[in-house]
Amino acid sequence: MIRTRITELFGIEFPIIQAGMIWVSGWRLAAASAEAGAMGLIGAGSMTPDLLREHLRKMRKACPDKPWGVNLPLFFQYAEEMARILIEEKVRIVFTSGGSPKKFTPRFKDAGMKVVHVTATPELAVKCEEAGVDAVVVEGFEAGGHNGRDELTTMVLVPQAAVAVRIPVIAAGGIYDGRGMAAALALGAEGVQVGTRLAATVESSAHENFKRAMVEASPTGTFLVLKKLVPARVIVNEWTRRVLDAEARGAAEQELLELIGEKRTKLGMFDGDLSEGELQIGQAVGAVREILPAGDVIRWIARGCEETLARLSTLT
Ligand SMILES: Cc1cc2nc3c(=O)[nH]c(=O)nc-3n(C[C@H](O)[C@H](O)[C@H](O)COP(=O)(O)O)c2cc1C
Repeated sequence: MIRTRITELFGIEFPIIQAGMIWVSGWRLAAASAEAGAMGLIGAGSMTPDLLREHLRKMRKACPDKPWGVNLPLFFQYAEEMARILIEEKVRIVFTSGGSPKKFTPRFKDAGMKVVHVTATPELAVKCEEAGVDAVVVEGFEAGGHNGRDELTTMVLVPQAAVAVRIPVIAAGGIYDGRGMAAALALGAEGVQVGTRLAATVESSAHENFKRAMVEASPTGTFLVLKKLVPARVIVNEWTRRVLDAEARGAAEQELLELIGEKRTKLGMFDGDLSEGELQIGQAVGAVREILPAGDVIRWIARGCEETLARLSTLT
């Protein structure tokens, strides 16, 4: 049994957070993860406010007894309205990302919520602590989805963040099995946030084509694109190659915005267009070989972590 300040803070069995992921982590994945003993997060960043309410209702029904929360990207057009909904609907836990932790933390804390912010440098982890969050996720360069510009890897970021702040640190980026989780704990993290491995599960709402692409992806098949705008790690496909060409030519922001166009992430991740859609995923995708139920993945990570820690203790 691995106990840390993260298991205590949330009242969860394993210090594993199922990452909030646009188009991927609706109530089904969040409920399956929470039922298995992890923290389940509904990814609000691809929903309309009405759809978020619907997912909250279904989540409560599917998972009445376990702690769970919502991931809210702060640059999102509906962030303000969704922040109000989360308070109104008495959601207990929120993970914010992609903006200043000062924006909503005081309001959420006043409403009695537990707040975690996601960031990508030790300096910004300190800012999160100053803003009053309960814990911080530090996300390395390996991670899927939107990412920091500074390219700090998880290996480098986690130990520096862990000494920079007093609040618990959750490591994210490249963690897909028990060995990775044990390594993150060794670096000073008290929990892990897992995205890519849990995107490739039965309950993930990623399109079947996207899930197949995850199983077939090579470890070198992703790239961090759009560093000038909003950096995102994606599977390289026809659309990504056009973006990379444009970036190599030094294309202006406007041209890049036009290349992104509307609904690019939905096209790839939810509608399953593997050539023209944006397919956000992390480097760990190279290790994913099958689509499994999320609960099995979570128990496998937790068990693997305990086995790794036991194996390491025999080395001294
Ligand atoms: C498909 C996908 C969508 C994501 N969407 C979000 C999001 O909406 N909000 C967010 O804070 N992070 C998002 N992320 C990042 C994850 O929350 C998480 O930090 C990251 O996936 C961890 O690294 P890993 O992919 O190597 O496990 C996304 C990641 C993926 C793979």
